[in-house]
Amino acid sequence: MSELLKMLGCRYPIIQGPIGMFNSPKMIASVSEAGAYGMLALGFINNLDEVKKLVDEIRALTDKPFGANIMLINPNNAEILKVLAEAGVSTVTTSVGSPKEVYPVIHGLGMKGIHVVLALPHALAAVKAGADALVVVGSEAGGLRSRNPESSTMVLVPLVADNVKVPIVAAGGIADSRGYRAALALGAQGVQVGTRFLASAESPASEHWKKTIVECGDGGTDLIPALNMRVAQRIIVTPWIKQKMSDPAVKNIADELEINPDKTGNYERAAFGGGQVSALIKDIKAIKEIIREMVS
Ligand SMILES: Cc1cc2nc3c(=O)[nH]c(=O)nc-3n(C[C@H](O)[C@H](O)[C@H](O)COP(=O)(O)O)c2cc1C
Repeated sequence: MSELLKMLGCRYPIIQGPIGMFNSPKMIASVSEAGAYGMLALGFINNLDEVKKLVDEIRALTDKPFGANIMLINPNNAEILKVLAEAGVSTVTTSVGSPKEVYPVIHGLGMKGIHVVLALPHALAAVKAGADALVVVGSEAGGLRSRNPESSTMVLVPLVADNVKVPIVAAGGIADSRGYRAALALGAQGVQVGTRFLASAESPASEHWKKTIVECGDGGTDLIPALNMRVAQRIIVTPWIKQKMSDPAVKNIADELEINPDKTGNYERAAFGGGQVSALIKDIKAIKEIIREMVS
């Protein structure tokens, strides 16, 4: 058994990529029940009662292991980690921020931590800070990116594998068995999958969001500014966004977008997150099916 699988305690070395804007206990439990590692996304949650409630809801649906992602810009991580440790969560991922201070806390609670990195210098710094493993995210991935030029999964995973001794999880561009096997060949012990699970039957993403992923073609995503221009995020470029992006009068596309389309119903202006791998996703499938195909 690989070091990563020992750390996760599940059957397949597949981590559900956390999706910061929502948590669905049903989806997380479905991933864990199918033998992979379901993940709570706690980056934007500060309320400890909410964390406890989510953990209890998942526990009511599965006795299989699941984890949680914390973002290191969240000031309440020490308390959140304590709640997770008490609930029996043994491995978390840490992203968006410096790992220096959090790893002694994670280890002090008897947990393991996997830090999410976008470049080789981040990977070396994370190992130095005590990370037990790394999620290495290539530039084609969905989610937040830095504003630096970054390498794709195909380059970054072997580059990091050549330079660290801890287990590596590859992320970015993995949606099927080809991507899964390629990641293992590149030196990863497992994969983290975001967009493919977002477009699953159990995902709480709106039907509009799922349809936009399925309809996205080659070259159909782009990076736009996020979090007050400090970082970038990868979105699927709809015809409306494309037109706005080429309009010289629009200074920052992020200002034009509808942040909460599910509430306002203004889906035309919505920016749906998704990786370049959206171009490979042609249908909405049950999580069990996605995982079964991936490891086949
Ligand atoms: C809409 C969206 C939100 C995300 N939110 C988070 C998050 O809160 N924390 C995190 O570590 N990664 C986040 N990610 C990154 C994913 O967990 C995962 O690493 C990434 O999607 C992998 O690339 P893929 O989309 O090509 O599979 C997000 C990705 C997307 C598409």
